[in-house]
Amino acid sequence: MHATSVSSAVFLALIAIVDANQGSFAPLTKRELDKPVIQPPFYDNKLVPALNESLQTTEHTIDLWANNSIPSICKSAIEEQAVDGVLLTSGPVEVFSVTYADCDTPWIMCRHPTASASRQTMAELFGKLPVRHRSFVRHLSAAGGDSGAYSSGDNVFMAGDSSLAVTVYGHEVGHSLDAHFFGNETGFTETDAWLEAYDEDEVVVQDYAQASQAENFAQMVNVAIYTLNFPGGIANLAPNWQQFSHMLDLMTNELKDVLTQGGECRNRLENSPLVSKSGFGSQTSSVLSSESSSTVMTIASPTSSPAPGTRTRALHRRQRQHQAK
Ligand SMILES: *[C@@H]1O[C@H](CO)[C@@H](O)[C@H](O)[C@H]1NC(C)=O
Ligand SMILES: *[C@@H]1O[C@H](CO)[C@@H](O)[C@H](O)[C@H]1NC(C)=O
Ligand SMILES: *[C@@H]1O[C@H](CO)[C@@H](O)[C@H](O)[C@H]1NC(C)=O
Ligand SMILES: [Zn+2]
Repeated sequence: MHATSVSSAVFLALIAIVDANQGSFAPLTKRELDKPVIQPPFYDNKLVPALNESLQTTEHTIDLWANNSIPSICKSAIEEQAVDGVLLTSGPVEVFSVTYADCDTPWIMCRHPTASASRQTMAELFGKLPVRHRSFVRHLSAAGGDSGAYSSGDNVFMAGDSSLAVTVYGHEVGHSLDAHFFGNETGFTETDAWLEAYDEDEVVVQDYAQASQAENFAQMVNVAIYTLNFPGGIANLAPNWQQFSHMLDLMTNELKDVLTQGGECRNRLENSPLVSKSGFGSQTSSVLSSESSSTVMTIASPTSSPAPGTRTRALHRRQRQHQAK
């Protein structure tokens, strides 16, 4: 019943990536939240195309790296990804810097040749997110395989067609926003304010939001981006939007600054250390190989560069891995 839209296909297929990581085939029937999905549906059929078509990207330049260096988080994420049952290697990965007009410091991204999105598409879609939202992540990687995406240590990995949907970028960055917004040990979705807003609402915005409060929030991020950046707001797309107005109001009040386009980046995070792609005997690659048996989450030990001290503490708090749509 989901097979009719591209975005639902992305949603369904990402179950596979999590199953692969966990070595199980539990279908996504585990629902922590029991509120129903809003009717009529608007997320996949209206919001996803509306954001894709209406958000303007930020002017940017792309510089493809000519050497053999790769951020270690890109290497480990891509080497955990299988396409047609075969694990990828990082040798052919394109590492590139994307410098947006609203931030002096580029984002370093990685793309395996099997990825659905080109370098240009990755840079363009990420550039559609408000810059202060973009500032919550360090690296983005894309590769082929079954569609799915996750956020780990403030890095985003996207497989298959997930790298083609701006809402996947918004959702994944949303996990970092959830974890770090308050700059202390409290995630946004752990606050009483959020839980009360959820309680007062009648619905969630899309079925994947039922998976957990973290996924509920991450799906809502795209709704809040629409609301804050387009006249008329979500009422344009969801006539019954008042059924989730408490969550939306909380987000558009608290996160207005982060999720509104314009302005400049701030508190950019420290990049993952550079290692050698091929790993032929360099010092860095031997360091990496000792790490590579551990999980992505272990490798992503985030340290915040010139971020406020409060935020640095928060960065160490959660190393979460989420699937996303
Ligand atoms: C590889 O190139 C990038 C981009 O020019 C640079 O930042 C990085 O330091 C280089 N790596 C090495 C080992 O010199
Ligand atoms: C997004 O819009 C572009 C055109 O701007 C289109 O080519 C692409 O198919 C759209 N993607 C999705 C997921 O709707
Ligand atoms: C974290 O920040 C929120 C929002 O400012 C506040 O309500 C909460 O009490 C803080 N928690 C801690 C542990 O400081
Ligand atoms: Zn998620």
